[in-house]
Amino acid sequence: MEFTAEIRKATEPIYKKISKAVPEIEWPSHAPYIYEINKLKKEKNAVILAHNYQTPEIYHGISDFSADSLALAVEAAKTKADIIVMCGVHFMAETAKLMSPNKKVLLPDMTAGCSLSSSITGEDVRNLKRKYPGVPVVSYVNTSADVKSETDVCCTSANAVKIVNSLGVRKVIFLPDDYLAKYVASQTDVEIISWKGTCEVHEQFNDEEINEIRKSNPGIKVIAHPECPPDVIQASDFTGSTSGMIKYVKDNQPEKVMMVTECSMSDNVQVDNPNVKFIRPCNLCPHMKKITLPKILDCLQNETNEIVMSKKVIEKARKSVERMTKIGR
Ligand code: 13P
Ligand code: SF4
Repeated sequence: MEFTAEIRKATEPIYKKISKAVPEIEWPSHAPYIYEINKLKKEKNAVILAHNYQTPEIYHGISDFSADSLALAVEAAKTKADIIVMCGVHFMAETAKLMSPNKKVLLPDMTAGCSLSSSITGEDVRNLKRKYPGVPVVSYVNTSADVKSETDVCCTSANAVKIVNSLGVRKVIFLPDDYLAKYVASQTDVEIISWKGTCEVHEQFNDEEINEIRKSNPGIKVIAHPECPPDVIQASDFTGSTSGMIKYVKDNQPEKVMMVTECSMSDNVQVDNPNVKFIRPCNLCPHMKKITLPKILDCLQNETNEIVMSKKVIEKARKSVERMTKIGR
């Protein structure tokens, strides 16, 4: 696509905002897509929801709402748009469809998965329920609609402890993230039966790396996502969901910070916090990175990659997400 004078002028305010996160040499390849997508979404009454791990040109350039997975689920239920384009991974698009079954939900790349979501099936949950009869099932939203159909209440990293405590029981089955389960267990008296799933991005961090960074950056604040292993969480100053981490930086304005999470977070948060220095060892989520501007434009133009689920699955799976959003953050 051509980077015309008109497009340069129209997209200049966006580039000014994100120039620290996107090299100037890349702008002519992004700007024509940003221009077209922003025009088309108005014409089609579409809303673009983006997870915090999307790249800066998506997060700051075209999204109408960017957030953690809990806020994306809530927003999907509220929007008045006809079409939702989910810039995130498959379970996020499915969750949006559950919350807005009458809307068209599009995912720019249908293969954008998640190692947690693919670690467990509906059949696995049915087996666990047979093994632990009567014990309620709390599932992370990072699961398929089939797993959600077998779930009593969903949670995200923003409200996992609150959801577990809200049930008023002594024991819960908590799926599928083993590290998030360990984190929750450290914050509650409820007994947690966990599953063996892990996030392929967060499991790669370790406390040695953090200790090295602290040595060479005295005073640095280290903030970690609860999908990290327990030694990493122990070595950190704060643990929270992606939006919790953003809020921590905004409220505390640390001189230096390391966000122990996916790489795009530091790029995106830097834009709104120019006085904070980000120390960036980070890991890329290969699934989140499958979402690109050309794929977003293509799926919006042709209305392809629609999330389709049977009424039965929608009805069953939606209950567990709705129960979560009622309990809130
Ligand atoms: P959040 O709910 O914190 O945004 O996390 C989603 C996710 O996939 C993190 O890896
Ligand atoms: Fe899944 Fe981890 Fe990627 Fe989040 S970062 S989408 S949990 S693989």
